Amino acid sequence: MRMYDIILKKRNGEELTDDEIAFFIDGYTKGEIPDYQASALMMAIFYKGMTDRETVCLTDRMAHSGDMVDLSRFGEMSVDKHSTGGVGDKTSLIVAPIVASLGGKVTKMSGRGLGHTGGTVDKLESISGYNTSLTPDAFLSQVERVGMAIIGQTGNLTPADKKLYALRDVTATVDSIPLITSSIMSKKIAAGSHNIVLDVKVGSGAFMKTPRDAEILAEKMVGIGKACGRNIAAVITDMDSPLGNNVGNALEVAETVSVLKNEKKGDLREVSVALATEMVSLVFGLKHDEAEKKVVTAIEDGSAFEKMKEWIAAQGGDVAQIEDTSLLPRAKFSFDVLSDTDGYITEMNAEKIGKASVMLGAGRASKEDKIDYAAGIVINKKVGDKVKKGDLLATLYYDNGSPDNAKKCYLSALKIEPKQKSTPPLIHKIIR
Ligand code: URA
Repeated sequence: MRMYDIILKKRNGEELTDDEIAFFIDGYTKGEIPDYQASALMMAIFYKGMTDRETVCLTDRMAHSGDMVDLSRFGEMSVDKHSTGGVGDKTSLIVAPIVASLGGKVTKMSGRGLGHTGGTVDKLESISGYNTSLTPDAFLSQVERVGMAIIGQTGNLTPADKKLYALRDVTATVDSIPLITSSIMSKKIAAGSHNIVLDVKVGSGAFMKTPRDAEILAEKMVGIGKACGRNIAAVITDMDSPLGNNVGNALEVAETVSVLKNEKKGDLREVSVALATEMVSLVFGLKHDEAEKKVVTAIEDGSAFEKMKEWIAAQGGDVAQIEDTSLLPRAKFSFDVLSDTDGYITEMNAEKIGKASVMLGAGRASKEDKIDYAAGIVINKKVGDKVKKGDLLATLYYDNGSPDNAKKCYLSALKIEPKQKSTPPLIHKIIR
């Protein structure tokens, strides 16, 4: 078999066989197929797509390219959650303790941020002492004891995806439905959870820009999960504007605490409740309303917040910073962004706001960059809000340099118009 023929076949829009897909994934993982041929195939797939059979085969082969986590000791109680990525998306830190406080076994391996989107691992590392790299045994025994653990991706899990994702990132081939499907689902299948809830983002800050594309992606991922014997649901949620008010690592941790302390309502709580409800419903086989009642009670009676503290302590984090979030890393400088006009905020481009936070030091422009955990943005006015000239739109937090470029980028993300416009729904659709 030759890689050249596989590229040619896909370039001509033909369906690849299981053997051809296996040849590519195995050869590329071992370093026997060069990046330039893999890039050509990625671009051919981007343009010509893949059939469901090809996507299932690609996912399965990628999942088996490295270790497979064995969670059989948790029976059907293990549950995982994955977001396709967004700005201000910190729901994992909220939903995991909620579900664990209700008896689910939350096994979560998360990534770091790259580009305009943040990563759960970076957010957690803003808490002093928090250990994101537990050994497999320590990870499993913590899940058994505490009901949850969130760590970075360990060991040799889906090496094919690691290589391919890095390649797609620099060859403009990320936003392809079969490639996103196989990338996400291979990691979820290898990570072993019986129950999986996907948060598929749609809007300006997401890979999927339209509800139709998000729905296709969600349906494909749910179909593959089911084909692999998993209990799975996808919630399509809005990412036209950032989720919640805080963007930046320590700032986002503080915001999750205020939701779990039952102090904060709004979009972040709403999306978190929707995701936790689907997780609880899958794990315990409950109807939606029953599961939702349990989730809301876990926030209101403080049990989810108690679970958060137990979890942070178990992973070596400083619980005092969770009890009093003013002890989290704080930036030396702040800058208030004021409105120079009257009107309503009709648009907040999530991608541009994510970029503004990266300019302040909250994210990485390249893999090697160091993160400033204290840097970020606190949004004061969101879409639909009325503003007057001189009103505070947002506060920028930073430790180094000047906030000028971030301010310009933040303002370029906003549209302020004389009339209010209808806003997209927060929860577009649930696919089960
Ligand atoms: N997240 C992933 O893990 N993979 C993709 O391809 C896109 C988003």
